[in-house]
Amino acid sequence: MKHFISMQQLSKETMNQILKEAELIRKSPKTINKQLFAANLFFEPSTRTKMSFEVAQRKLGLEVLNLYEEGSSLIKGESLYDTAKTFEAIGADFLVVRHPSDYWMDEIEEEGQLNIPVFNAGSGKEEHPTQCMLDLLTMYQEFGNVEGKKVVIAGDIIHSRVAKSNARALEKLGADVYFSAAPGFEDHSLPFPYITMDEAVEIADALMLLRIQHERHIHKTETDDYLSLYGLTMERAARMQKHAIIMHPAPINRGVEIDTRLVESKQSRIFKQMENGVYVRMAILIHVLKEWGIINENDINECKALNII
Ligand code: NCD
Repeated sequence: MKHFISMQQLSKETMNQILKEAELIRKSPKTINKQLFAANLFFEPSTRTKMSFEVAQRKLGLEVLNLYEEGSSLIKGESLYDTAKTFEAIGADFLVVRHPSDYWMDEIEEEGQLNIPVFNAGSGKEEHPTQCMLDLLTMYQEFGNVEGKKVVIAGDIIHSRVAKSNARALEKLGADVYFSAAPGFEDHSLPFPYITMDEAVEIADALMLLRIQHERHIHKTETDDYLSLYGLTMERAARMQKHAIIMHPAPINRGVEIDTRLVESKQSRIFKQMENGVYVRMAILIHVLKEWGIINENDINECKALNII
């Protein structure tokens, strides 16, 4: 694998291998026994992805460099490529990038060559592969496998990178994927059937809710009737199958796409997803750094309980 950019580049085998590794790390943490610098370049707001990448890096024992747009030379007109190349020059061993452009990695590659791996922490409306991997891990923990499982992704599909990464990966893994969206939020370029929220709650094994991506809308979307028309109300949740789970990548707009009482309900896995984000990102980092030859098996320590004599 070159850079970790899109779920479309991952085979079923690679996804399964990384998920297995993430489960192992969850049970028995690992560290990298080598000085490596991780550079996190975030050009869009982030709470979970940024912090969980940083926790993953620190748990692995890496040095962490953080760049924010306001404090960087990007506002002096420096390109993303030149920013990335700068980090390579000063000794970063890999980059984690979030940027509003849908295809920022293509733009980087058109400008020149980067010699360190890049991890996509969110590209515009197109891809969010590490979020998808943590969603898959959450479903695997629940169902063992997603083959034949009905997964409904509901909300602002057209503006959601989470919807796109998940739909494509879940289809590859043999799940039955459905979309549910308010008028105007559909993306008909993707080949998945649309159902209503009333139908969704009846059939879903996993119901993945999405936030309205207001920052990507040209016109302001009114949300007064959104919950009752398209969201997960208490009444609808009561019609879900007993084993079914509620997921959401967050941030959550309580009372818009979901009734606030369901966020921490028994069927919700929303905070579990966040916890899984750390393990999955540790596994992805190890996997790609090994493929690049930046680390090898000897650089990885299994952490056992410390026996201090
Ligand atoms: C999502 C994102 O940024 O794409 N959040 C996340 O990474 N956990 C979803 C969103 O912003 O709605």
